[in-house]
Amino acid sequence: MSTEAQDGTLTVTDNRTGQTYEFAITDGTIRATELRNIKVSDDDFGLMTYDPAFMNTASCRSAITYLDGDNGVLRYRGYPIEQLAEKSTFLEVAWLLIHGELPSQSELAQFTKDIADRMVVDPSVEAAVKAYRQDAHPMGVLEAGFGQLSTLYPEAKEIESDPERMDALYNTIAKMPTIGGVAFRHNQGKDPVAPDPSLDYSTNILKMFFGADYAPDPRLVRALDILLILHADHEQNCSTSTVRSVGSSQVDPYSAVAAGIAALYGPLHGGANEAVLVMLREIGSKDNVPEFVEKVKNREALLMGFGHRVYKNYDPRATIIKKACDDVFEVTGVNPLLEIAVELERTALNDEFFIQRKLYPNVDFYSGLIYEALGIPSEMFTVMFAIGRAPGWVAQWLEMINDKEQKISRPRQVYVGPDERDYVDIGSR
Ligand code: ACO
Repeated sequence: MSTEAQDGTLTVTDNRTGQTYEFAITDGTIRATELRNIKVSDDDFGLMTYDPAFMNTASCRSAITYLDGDNGVLRYRGYPIEQLAEKSTFLEVAWLLIHGELPSQSELAQFTKDIADRMVVDPSVEAAVKAYRQDAHPMGVLEAGFGQLSTLYPEAKEIESDPERMDALYNTIAKMPTIGGVAFRHNQGKDPVAPDPSLDYSTNILKMFFGADYAPDPRLVRALDILLILHADHEQNCSTSTVRSVGSSQVDPYSAVAAGIAALYGPLHGGANEAVLVMLREIGSKDNVPEFVEKVKNREALLMGFGHRVYKNYDPRATIIKKACDDVFEVTGVNPLLEIAVELERTALNDEFFIQRKLYPNVDFYSGLIYEALGIPSEMFTVMFAIGRAPGWVAQWLEMINDKEQKISRPRQVYVGPDERDYVDIGSR
């Protein structure tokens, strides 16, 4: 839809004063700061909007990802996710997100080489991971790993330098799976497997996880690549807006990405794919699905992998993943949890509770089943999400840094605490 069609003006009357104000509407928005002109007296701070959890606030103008949650549409730089999942590769999508256009053959070849050459991590990262408890959650390790990259590449602080920032952005995409692989192997008490620059990105991931001798079926490699494409960006989600917000302090991009990893770790965001598998195992059998759905309706449980802040229709990524599930299970045999998932989806989609609230499966409902079929344990699912999301984080970071309208991120608040009062000595309390 053309945003110009939404342009015009808004006239507002302040019933406290009877005064009328006119605001420009651009791209279907009004400037929140202009509301500050609405005052009851000269020393009044002016009107603010109150928007907990940013339910209705655009914090940036972005040309990266278009999402229409009501109609289940997702496009990267204008290209429908369905076409990218069918025809593209993860690294091509990464280039597209960062640079805005699909790469030429030579650009893609150079980018593929640049990423492959950067996948290796400094030995100190492996040494640091070895110092963790063997059961350390790999997302905690990944988060710390990016803090460590910030110490290893201090030049990344030069965020105005194009070569320095491109170096950091490419390193982020390249080293995310390597650190994830080191964490994965550490959990199993195994030594890390070095990346092989002659391999494609997704094959490299599987080899770094399962060993240099592991020879993955190309259909599994392709399924993994598709999963990464589907996770590559999702506009201003919790972790991406965290990367932007932390990056707005002009910290180096590795540190901003470490914050994004922390945000993704939460069970309401990237942690949901792990939670889905836990839930499916707890349900245990198709026959127990009605009982579980009743528990959800009684607010005793959440149906993990269902619902989305923005999609109020089927998540288009879930449709593609469901198809990828079939391809993977052709190679690996069907995961018995799939039967429970399908029954759960069928039951929920026919139940008034879910229909009324427009709750549909999201990207995480089926992705865990694929990861499990690939032999990846559930603690690693969110790491897989982080690997996929890395290009989105860095593309959004770059857009934010280049956006002259952006400043350090700093929301307002409505203070609801006590009025001024005098300190009471501890002995008198
Ligand atoms: N199971 C049961 N009820 C749900 C669920 C769910 N998964 N999701 C939402 N609802 C209900 C809420 O209780 C609420 O009901 P009410 O209006 O009667 O109080 C209504 O649906 C609206 O839900 P909100 O929580 O207001 O929706 P919000 O946009 O804040 O939350 C979220 C979105 C966090 C994704 C939520 O749907 C959820 O917790 N889902 C499960 C976790 C999950 O799958 N997260 C992954 C998200 S996708 C991603 O990050 C990649």
